[in-house]
Amino acid sequence: MQTRAAITAVHGYVPPDVLTNADLARMVDTTDAWITERTGIKERHILKGEGLGSSHMGAEAVRGLLTKTKTKPEDIELLICATTTPDFVHPCTANLICDMVGIRSVGSFDVQAACSGFLFALTVAQQFIAAGTYKKIIVVGADKMSAIVDYTDRATCVLFGDGAGAVMLEPNASGYGILDTILRSDGSGAQYLHQKAGGSRMPPTAETIAKRLHYVHQEGASVYKFAVAGMSEVTREIMSRNNLRANMIDWVVPHQANRRIIETTAERLGLPLDKVMFTLQKFGNTTTATIPLCLWDYEDKLKTGDRLLLAAFGGGFTWGGAYVTWAYDGAKAPKLNGGVQPAQFTKSPWL
Ligand SMILES: CC(C)(COP(=O)(O)OP(=O)(O)OC[C@H]1O[C@@H](n2cnc3c(N)ncnc32)[C@H](O)[C@@H]1OP(=O)(O)O)[C@@H](O)C(=O)NCCC(=O)NCCS
Repeated sequence: MQTRAAITAVHGYVPPDVLTNADLARMVDTTDAWITERTGIKERHILKGEGLGSSHMGAEAVRGLLTKTKTKPEDIELLICATTTPDFVHPCTANLICDMVGIRSVGSFDVQAACSGFLFALTVAQQFIAAGTYKKIIVVGADKMSAIVDYTDRATCVLFGDGAGAVMLEPNASGYGILDTILRSDGSGAQYLHQKAGGSRMPPTAETIAKRLHYVHQEGASVYKFAVAGMSEVTREIMSRNNLRANMIDWVVPHQANRRIIETTAERLGLPLDKVMFTLQKFGNTTTATIPLCLWDYEDKLKTGDRLLLAAFGGGFTWGGAYVTWAYDGAKAPKLNGGVQPAQFTKSPWL
């Protein structure tokens, strides 16, 4: 039987500070009722603290993963970090995470595909396992969206939160694991969702800052339409080419941007909502972290052999899907005492 890359463990991290809809209603002209009705989001976690970036949350998720699986950092052969909010332009956030958790002398790099980044990174990692190159890979999605969200833009700031999630990928000879993936991009969608300044085309100046060009710019209604179309397209295609009928799917694991996007997509595919993972009510849209945070949050419910349909979309535009069979009994997976361990961040001496 073909060796598959299977997810053998998952862990997540959200920072302790919570930003509720009521808090946002004090910051911009909005209400809890509007946010809840239009998005399904009630609260999100925000990373506070000087010198803390996406790597801090990614490292927390990876540390938890290593602890849970009793894996030594030196046993990891590759680490890929999906992020849209890297700590720095360079070095990449994956390198910083490796340094923080003690993973040395292995390849580590970032994948940037906005909200689809985790799915893209997972697909890259899967190839190394299927080819027999590596046997233990960590894929982490980590985003500190609060660093690039404009908290005067009411249509955008209500959507996003901070968080990280990480999975371990290992070979599985019983046929469980990542069975199929689809990745798609369309650069013409950049106009609807982007951050204009801070890159090589528009380096930071006093003017770019004054014009608020270092924040996410989003045309919500256009992104919404694309998201429903893109998620429906890839999930339908994955189901069709793997001969999957709706009643054969145990869990849909969608990117968590807006409850209405997920509901419409599920409805189009005939997938009942009790089979759909939702975490956006408490975490908001954590960009690359939404899918691993869903897996972490629902781990107890996942059983060996469960059929999962992953679906993502994001800025770029990017979108994609994956068909995964779950490789272990989540209820029996080791738990960390008290959930997330306290942060172990130590400030880098060169900063
Ligand atoms: C952003 C989003 C929630 C807005 O919801 P919507 O139903 O499309 O709302 P619209 O943009 O049509 O705006 C409707 C009205 O609500 C207003 N509004 C926008 N945000 C608001 C808020 N937070 N509170 C109150 N009113 C708000 C608008 O100003 C507009 O008012 P107007 O009719 O007087 O002009 C929705 O478009 C969305 O979720 N888009 C996709 C975003 C996404 O998925 N991004 C992540 C990509 S990975």
